[in-house]
Amino acid sequence: MTMKFDINLADQRVSDADREQLLASPGFGQIFTEHMITIEWDAESGWHNAQLRPYGPLSLDPATKVLHYGQELFEGLKAYRQPDGSIVSFRPRANAARFNASGERMAMPPLPEDVFVEALELLVSTDRDWVPTQEGHSLYLRPFMIATEVGMGINAPSSTYLFCVIASPSATYFSGAIRPVSVWLSQDYTRAAVGGTGAAKCGGNYAGAFVAQQQAIAEGCDQVVWLDAVEHRWIEEMGGMNMFFVYGSGSSARIMTPALTGTLLPGITRDSLLKLAPDLGIPVTEDRISIEEWEAGCLSGEITETFACGTAAVITAVGRAKGPKGSWTVGDGEPGPVTKRLREELVGIQYGSQPDPHSWIHKLV
Ligand code: PLP
Ligand code: COI
Repeated sequence: MTMKFDINLADQRVSDADREQLLASPGFGQIFTEHMITIEWDAESGWHNAQLRPYGPLSLDPATKVLHYGQELFEGLKAYRQPDGSIVSFRPRANAARFNASGERMAMPPLPEDVFVEALELLVSTDRDWVPTQEGHSLYLRPFMIATEVGMGINAPSSTYLFCVIASPSATYFSGAIRPVSVWLSQDYTRAAVGGTGAAKCGGNYAGAFVAQQQAIAEGCDQVVWLDAVEHRWIEEMGGMNMFFVYGSGSSARIMTPALTGTLLPGITRDSLLKLAPDLGIPVTEDRISIEEWEAGCLSGEITETFACGTAAVITAVGRAKGPKGSWTVGDGEPGPVTKRLREELVGIQYGSQPDPHSWIHKLV
């Protein structure tokens, strides 16, 4: 399916000098390009009124459903500048598929994957000057969908929706990217339970997480680690990242990540590492690990490294963990060789310095 987009360009573009200045240290999700995509949906017309238009505020009636009940979805992926100046993204169809899987859970209409990808191509090609050339930086793309019906009934989902894509030049999520993070094992709060929305990328999952993240910071940690809802023992994932545990070292190193139980977000980086690591001779498993096993494994040396992975965070080492009963160091507290190797390979594919054996790279411009 191809969509006909109305093109309405911004009257004023940011000057080259001002853009350069903004791109010098963009932070994460702080600055935005000059355009955005919007497409509307209703039952009669399906997806319609597709527009590329100047970036700007949306006007919503105060009784719009999304404002009250949070019927919303989002995705996150990046556009990467290549050595030849072209611009690519990484597995955008996987994001499109996850967007629709999330939509199914939230009773929202599917967007054809081709339209999702076309929207990215059009926005990035229009705002291509905003795709950073600085090493490790990228243009973070944020597709999202909101319920736009006006009315506060809760007997049925919204009858109308707005799909939107905005773009934000960004550095990596963690400043000083390579510094390992410390994590707080949340006992007081639960992110997701069986039958809930944990596997969907909906805003509410993140709204409910802020208080635990605040607690993590108050405990002197960078990030919260979520445990299962029933026993509060089994490690699920982090705030915006999946987790991997490295067992052993050298040629006998292997990696394990918590299995997708329906309460974790099925990360695309996670899935990519499950395919990439075996290429490098590193066996992978999907299993489960409790906090006690993690701590004991770190103390005995069986677990040598732990890292978190996601689009925004890429691959980030976990150096220390803290729970109510105490804290421990993972390995020597520094990023280990398996973490560094996997990061190098993944980033190499994304930025075009390594071959792409799984055809994950999609040229946008
Ligand atoms: N887990 C959560 C809760 C997330 O928000 C994210 C980020 O999107 C991830 C994991 C990692 O997913 P991905 O690798 O697709 O970015
Ligand atoms: C991402 O990695 O794309 C995320 O969505 C993480 C977070 C910023 C929500």
